[in-house]
Amino acid sequence: MAENIYPIYDRMLSREERERQLGQRGMMVWFTGLSGSGKSTVALGVERELAARGLLCRILDGDNIRAGINSNLGFSPEDRRENIRRIAEVGKLFVETGIVTLACFVSPTEEIRRMARDIIGEGDFFEVFVSTPLEECERRDVKGLYARARRGEVKDFTGISAPFEVPAHPSLSIDTSVLPLETNVQRVVDMIMNEQNK
Ligand code: ADX
Repeated sequence: MAENIYPIYDRMLSREERERQLGQRGMMVWFTGLSGSGKSTVALGVERELAARGLLCRILDGDNIRAGINSNLGFSPEDRRENIRRIAEVGKLFVETGIVTLACFVSPTEEIRRMARDIIGEGDFFEVFVSTPLEECERRDVKGLYARARRGEVKDFTGISAPFEVPAHPSLSIDTSVLPLETNVQRVVDMIMNEQNK
């Protein structure tokens, strides 16, 4: 525990006050899946759809976060863990501000996802597994990284030379190689609206 630190949380506006102001409930929708599986594409569609309904959202995305706050981290198991730990802590601030937060990170292991869930809090954490198979992600190879990983030019690449553990109990599973984008977006929006209306 940090010493000589005096948090002022008790004097700040409460989460309830912020949520009342916004007229919505803060929550974390955590997209996990292989690189190129469609996490960010689905999240972008969800954000547009929710914004049209007047909800305040924020996307946190691997490539953006790794260019900024986490620019000192690579892809070793320790660095991925620290990547996700920081994102979960930042994401928690968004959720407590009442924002519908959409996190798009490979987050390849159960242990890492459990840590994110523990930081953010069970009741606020909704896991969406983007289950698009490796063959399809590799066929798309939007960033050319799979080809480079196959040539051995990118080490520890998830799905090729680093593990991806399939989530045991996601709130929702979507495969972008089976259903069209709009359908997948709608399924996530439905899950979110269901929670908002509880
Ligand atoms: S995580 O494993 O720590 O959750 P994160 O989602 O932040 O990963 O970053 C994944 C993105 O970084 C991928 O979409 C890809 O563009 C890029 N990337 C670069 N090197 C790797 C690698 N070795 N493994 C996975 N993704 C990589």
